Amino acid sequence: MLVAPSILSADFGRLNDEITAICDAGCDLIHVDVMDGHFVPNMTIGPVVVNAVATVATKPLDIHLMVENNTFFVDLFAPLNPRYISFHIEEEKHPHRLIQKIRSLGIKPAITLNPHTPVETIEYLLEDLDMVLLMSVNPGFGGQKFIPSVLEKSKRLKDLIEKRNKNCLIEVDGGVSDKNIHELKDAGVDIVVAGSYVFGSGDYQKAIESLKV
Ligand code: DX5
Ligand code: ZN
Repeated sequence: MLVAPSILSADFGRLNDEITAICDAGCDLIHVDVMDGHFVPNMTIGPVVVNAVATVATKPLDIHLMVENNTFFVDLFAPLNPRYISFHIEEEKHPHRLIQKIRSLGIKPAITLNPHTPVETIEYLLEDLDMVLLMSVNPGFGGQKFIPSVLEKSKRLKDLIEKRNKNCLIEVDGGVSDKNIHELKDAGVDIVVAGSYVFGSGDYQKAIESLKV
């Protein structure tokens, strides 16, 4: 299992130290939640702050867009050279076109699904994707309760991935902890995002290790 701590739960007053600490603690990716106050009822950070994160990070960035105008935000964050950019399928009229655009910028494209969105919606996009991000909470806030139906969704998605593109990874985001990590592993998940569990623990290294099952 790869682990991507979500910096939404970091102490933003000491952001540089927090980034260095999770990188030293053995995380695989740094999950960056971008919220615009329209697609979700919250706002987070823009390219100025994310650029500061990228400067100290020794692990690649995984940018999760929760915004209305995906193309605008892809253009804004692409110069920071993230490993992944994911956008919500619920907010995109032309997902196939946007996937090609992200790839043409040298970034791995990913699509995010809200808890209610069936995996079949993206079946014919899988061959063009590097990752699918399944939300296990409603997007907008850290520290929410895990929605267990994501486990069945992940298994269904794994079957589609076997058929369409074996290289596509499954990431799960929201309410992840040592309590559900084994179920997530059994459901075929490759990467977990964990915000409050990692940053709320007293020991980042121990928390990250507990998710590497
Ligand atoms: C929610 C964000 C998540 C969030 C996860 O909209 O996409 O990345 O930070 O936080 P936890 O792990 O606390 O549920
Ligand atoms: Zn996220």
